[in-house]
Amino acid sequence: MATTSCFAALASDQDLVPHHIERRSIGPKDVAIDIAFCGVCHTDLHFAKNDWGRSNYPLVPGHEIVGTVNAVGADVKKFKLGQKVAVGCFVNSCHTCSSCAVDLEQYCLNGVTGTYNAASVDPGGFTYGGYSKHIVVDEHFVLRMPEGLDLAGAAPLLCAGITTYSPLKHWNIQAGMRVGVIGLGGLGHMGIKFAHAMGAQTTMITSSAHKAQDALRLGADGVLLSSDAAAMQAMANQFDFLLNTIPVYHDYNVYLPLLKVDGTMCIVGTIGMNAELNARSLIMGRRKIAGSLVGGIQETQEMLDFCAQHQILSDIEMIPMDGINQAYERMQHSDVKYRFVIDMSTLA
Ligand SMILES: NC(=O)c1ccc[n+]([C@@H]2O[C@H](COP(=O)([O-])OP(=O)(O)OC[C@H]3O[C@@H](n4cnc5c(N)ncnc54)[C@H](OP(=O)(O)O)[C@@H]3O)[C@@H](O)[C@H]2O)c1
Ligand SMILES: [Zn+2]
Ligand SMILES: [Zn+2]
Repeated sequence: MATTSCFAALASDQDLVPHHIERRSIGPKDVAIDIAFCGVCHTDLHFAKNDWGRSNYPLVPGHEIVGTVNAVGADVKKFKLGQKVAVGCFVNSCHTCSSCAVDLEQYCLNGVTGTYNAASVDPGGFTYGGYSKHIVVDEHFVLRMPEGLDLAGAAPLLCAGITTYSPLKHWNIQAGMRVGVIGLGGLGHMGIKFAHAMGAQTTMITSSAHKAQDALRLGADGVLLSSDAAAMQAMANQFDFLLNTIPVYHDYNVYLPLLKVDGTMCIVGTIGMNAELNARSLIMGRRKIAGSLVGGIQETQEMLDFCAQHQILSDIEMIPMDGINQAYERMQHSDVKYRFVIDMSTLA
């Protein structure tokens, strides 16, 4: 075992504080990683605040991890010392169920092991995430960082990137289709970049009028203000696909009429209850609501390679580790441009 420093939430109503955790000794298939940068996902905030009622403390968030291999187990084949690597939202799965068999580890029927807050045989009984100096991960769940991708700008690809890439690929987004991305935050800004790179006509659907210029700069062809009822009405029946990233309770009925006949709105934002659904929006147009969770390991590697090929990175605001509580505060006010990334060298 090795002690590593980190920042942890010790209770749902407290700021994150400096802390220490134990990492397991390196097993034959393990890769030990010195963490260089870790992105800050809204899910980290949900878990730190126990929004979903299943947080275990101390809780060390962070699942957008990039760094350098500092040791490998005897049977590790994919990685070598000094290599740049990444870890995303999960660090284990059963490897045998029907989901794992088709590279959909995120939907493991025996329970995927999240990078943090998941029951584990590791020291402490739970996994601890990337707001830390070091991590030890089974090589199957470690990603190869392609040459030429800036490490800090690439960190958010490990969650915000794959969570938006995966549904766009699954619904076969391509030229000739019209896509709306709802919510211009960490996920939303990656959704715009990917939908644009895949050739779709892309609209940013935002609750913040002041983000319009940024949306266009990020690759949107147009901007729709969700509070502008007349503009929303004018865009009814226009979209093949909507990617909904809103992190809080809201009303799907506001957005569903934007879909064409047979269109789909995919939810990747908040888990939990939303406003009552009026089935009229679905029935009048054979529309669909779907959901999607991050992406499998193979697809995550494909997404990283796609980003290297298209030079796609996250637009980041770098923060020191002790800036995390202020970053959470800003994130709660939709004030992030467009992903905070922690410089882990600032953690003693
Ligand atoms: N499904 C998955 O696998 C997965 C993976 C990662 C994260 N998530 C979840 O996805 C959500 C978004 O994460 P994120 O990191 O992108 O968050 P974020 O950076 O905070 O961005 C969320 C954006 O949603 C919009 N928004 C916020 N409150 C709103 C409201 N009341 N009504 C309408 N729009 C609102 C804002 O954009 P505008 O100002 O443009 O409106 C905000 O910037 C979180 O709930 C997170 O837990 C899911
Ligand atoms: Zn995330
Ligand atoms: Zn499985």
